[in-house]
Amino acid sequence: MLNSKHWNNKVVMITGASSGIGKGLALEIAARGGRLGLIARREDVLNELVSEIRTHNGTAVAVAADVRDANAMKQAAGRVRSELGPIDVLIANAGIGVTDHAANLNPEQVAEVMNINVLGAVNSVAAVLPEMVERQSGQLVAIASLAGYRGLAKSAAYCASKAALSSFFESLRIDLRHSGVTVTVIYPGFIKTPLTAGRNAKMPYLMELDDAVKRMVSAIEKGKKVYAFPWQLATIVRSSLIMPPSVYDWIAERNSFRE
Ligand SMILES: NC(=O)c1ccc[n+]([C@@H]2O[C@H](COP(=O)([O-])OP(=O)(O)OC[C@H]3O[C@@H](n4cnc5c(N)ncnc54)[C@H](OP(=O)(O)O)[C@@H]3O)[C@@H](O)[C@H]2O)c1
Repeated sequence: MLNSKHWNNKVVMITGASSGIGKGLALEIAARGGRLGLIARREDVLNELVSEIRTHNGTAVAVAADVRDANAMKQAAGRVRSELGPIDVLIANAGIGVTDHAANLNPEQVAEVMNINVLGAVNSVAAVLPEMVERQSGQLVAIASLAGYRGLAKSAAYCASKAALSSFFESLRIDLRHSGVTVTVIYPGFIKTPLTAGRNAKMPYLMELDDAVKRMVSAIEKGKKVYAFPWQLATIVRSSLIMPPSVYDWIAERNSFRE
């Protein structure tokens, strides 16, 4: 159900908007009346998305930037502000996933995952937060993952990055209480996007992108502090937090989501 009143004229900056979840969120929020600042590295793909949104009478600007570059992110946020006005919502979504195994530990690959998934989100927040605090208004949204709750097989870098991202935003949420800026952390399960395409391992409760996007937009609208979904997988993952390590390891070894 559309809630155009909520998004009407809100300026929403989304990182990783050229593909998958970011693109889906951009199209859905634009359809509900939000005005989009779209950030990613592939400018041509972003420009196509801007055209698509404008065809449907929406408003969007594309700014090519790498989330690893703090200055580029500040400039990108500046461009969004100068073209659309103050940024009301940041969705820190840009991220990569890699398959790794302890036996092949590659520090450079781990650093790359941390740089994009964690420091990239930090740079995105730094580019918008001072102005939000000054205006005493705004919403920071992080796209974390259910993979951030516990370590999973062949996913050390990814799980660590999502755990760090989620703790970072949780701390921000506490610091920003009473500031007028709210924080929403979203923990999705498996969603059909280019990130999961090509993986042969079984992905339980794999969701269609459209369905997942609608649920996330609704959680953002409601200003939820935390939204973990789908509920079946979220319940399993949260229950695993109280398992003794030996039980958890036995189960996790038999449930690798990466081949
Ligand atoms: N799909 C899932 O099942 C799932 C589940 C839980 C959480 N997530 C999280 O959701 C987010 C989006 O994932 P997705 O599935 O939509 O993946 P995706 O289709 O591969 O999209 C990733 C996006 O991140 C952007 N990006 C990557 N590196 C960047 C960089 N250095 N600077 C700027 N943008 C960068 C990419 O754009 P460019 O290449 O154009 O820069 C692309 O738009 C990720 O954080 C992922 O961890 C996904």
